[in-house]
Amino acid sequence: MKQQMLDRFGRIHTNLRISVTDVCNFRCIYCMPEDMTFMPDAALMTFDEILHLADIFVALGVNKIRITGGEPLVRPEVPTLIRRLMQVEGLKDISLTTNGIGLINQAQALYDAGLRRINVSLDTLNEEKFEQMTRRKVLSRVLQGLKTAHDCGFNPIKVNAVAMRGFTDDEIVDLATFARQNDYQLRFIEFMPLDADDVWGRNMYIPGKEIIEKINAVYPLKSVALNGESKSDTAQRYRFSDNGNEVGVIPSVSEPFCENCNRVRLTADGKFRTCLFSLTETDLLTPLREGASDAVITALILDAVAQKEAGHKINAADFIKPERNMSRIGG
Ligand code: 5AD
Ligand code: SF4
Repeated sequence: MKQQMLDRFGRIHTNLRISVTDVCNFRCIYCMPEDMTFMPDAALMTFDEILHLADIFVALGVNKIRITGGEPLVRPEVPTLIRRLMQVEGLKDISLTTNGIGLINQAQALYDAGLRRINVSLDTLNEEKFEQMTRRKVLSRVLQGLKTAHDCGFNPIKVNAVAMRGFTDDEIVDLATFARQNDYQLRFIEFMPLDADDVWGRNMYIPGKEIIEKINAVYPLKSVALNGESKSDTAQRYRFSDNGNEVGVIPSVSEPFCENCNRVRLTADGKFRTCLFSLTETDLLTPLREGASDAVITALILDAVAQKEAGHKINAADFIKPERNMSRIGG
């Protein structure tokens, strides 16, 4: 029988997120400090190494890959990587998460490489708040990037907003209006303790339920039933009753979806992580560079999956924050 990434809890992992760099041109407060130290270039997986590992993962049943960072588009030649991944047999879906700036110049090349799905992070439509959140004054360029991607034909374009108490509350409906009007699928993500500066606190996320109630009061929503593969979707999905566009919440803190998790991650320096919140990781890049066979790498992956944690413990008294912040894990 074909090998697959099956864990102790019966979860089969088919979804791999690959970070291609930990560098970012933003400094979002929920992710990293202003003075961040980045990995040396030599520590990063080359495209050949990424492709080699991708082949091994696809042989283990991965059919979806998402490219992340840091900000993936600060790494040169990402369209080339996408083009090469598109040729991997067995991969059904490739997507990319970006902060949007790089789309102004790269959307077309990414589209031409075969990419169709992107997620763009955008937490606010207010220039001042945008600067507070990202420590950069570039909101208009992110909006321009989104528009460029839309003009190229990307579909769907998802807009991810991290929902922070005291910050996002009064913009929930505005963001929904913006997404409806522009054909973007909006998703609010509950703020998780993956920041570098320890700003996270239990009262600092906005529960997904509350967000949906707020939107529903202005734009009536219908819930989208999840079936088959979308069961492992992290988002609770809804549709605007009047125009059919989707909106959703990712309630990682208030209603964890770990039970249905089908994701694993590869950091830019080639460490395999079974959970965002894992406290251990498995180095795949060093053995790969030392010439380990595919069978050896496969065994390392399967061992790690066999020990995958039941779920994150954000809500438990003994929660321990991982050493890596979000940008070094890969969002
Ligand atoms: N909590 C929730 N989401 C986060 N992201 C980054 N840091 C956090 C956090 N602490 C999001 C980004 C982006 C994705 C890669 O992860 O906004 O949408
Ligand atoms: Fe960069 Fe994304 Fe982290 Fe913001 S959340 S600093 S855009 S990696």
